[in-house]
Amino acid sequence: MITCNEIIKHYDGKKVLDGLSFHVKEGEVFGLLGPNGAGKTTTIKAILGLTKLDGGEIKKNPELHIGYSPETPYFHPFLSAYEVMLFYAKIQKIPAQLAVQQTLEFLKVVGLESEMNKKVKKYSKGMLQRLAVAQALLGEPGLLILDEPSSGLDAFGRVEMKKMILRLKREGRTIILNSHILSDVESVADRVMIINKGRLVRSVNLNHDDGSINLENVFLEALKGESL
Ligand SMILES: Nc1ncnc2c1ncn2[C@@H]1O[C@H](COP(=O)(O)OP(=O)(O)OP(=O)(O)O)[C@@H](O)[C@H]1O
Ligand SMILES: [Mg+2]
Repeated sequence: MITCNEIIKHYDGKKVLDGLSFHVKEGEVFGLLGPNGAGKTTTIKAILGLTKLDGGEIKKNPELHIGYSPETPYFHPFLSAYEVMLFYAKIQKIPAQLAVQQTLEFLKVVGLESEMNKKVKKYSKGMLQRLAVAQALLGEPGLLILDEPSSGLDAFGRVEMKKMILRLKREGRTIILNSHILSDVESVADRVMIINKGRLVRSVNLNHDDGSINLENVFLEALKGESL
């Protein structure tokens, strides 16, 4: 569905993506892992076309609709979650009736149903995070990119988020998931890629994991000896 070939990105003369190559298959949950500053969000922005590459290429179907939940979501503070959803649906030109239907459905999925008429400026960090995921689901995207969807969520919220991703996975969605909560990634991802300084460090298949893979150990082991 997405192929990145030797992608390179410089910021202020520093190489933050250093010839990274990977492929995301249709229907899989692909975990993108790495320490702070490894280049995860930059990779996501490159896939979305929000940042211009200095080298390499990204192959994807130009028709592919990507739903994106950003790392630090920002919504207009004077709108309610319900209005935010309709606003984003309008940008996507989703017909009005379907927009209302999807808004109600996805706000329910992320557990914001009872708070949907509250203004976003009164939302907690976790509630904003949930709204970001609900917004990403609008228009039934072929690929869902979730950049740290569980950051700021309480323990209940994290469990719900994990269940939600599993539900989306069962529906056959293709998901790129970027998270520091390795136990969550372990239970939802089919495959993970660990990167550091914009380079691939290790790729791990969790598809047929019988529980013998401890992602936290794999992560620490893979980055041992690497300068962070
Ligand atoms: N707009 C920018 N201008 C300059 N440097 C940037 C910019 N965006 C990112 N960087 C740098 O690129 C590197 C990779 O950043 P990126 O946000 O991709 O990391 P990340 O893996 O998502 O980290 P985190 O886990 O902290 O979210 C970092 O060194 C960061 O300082
Ligand atoms: Mg990031």
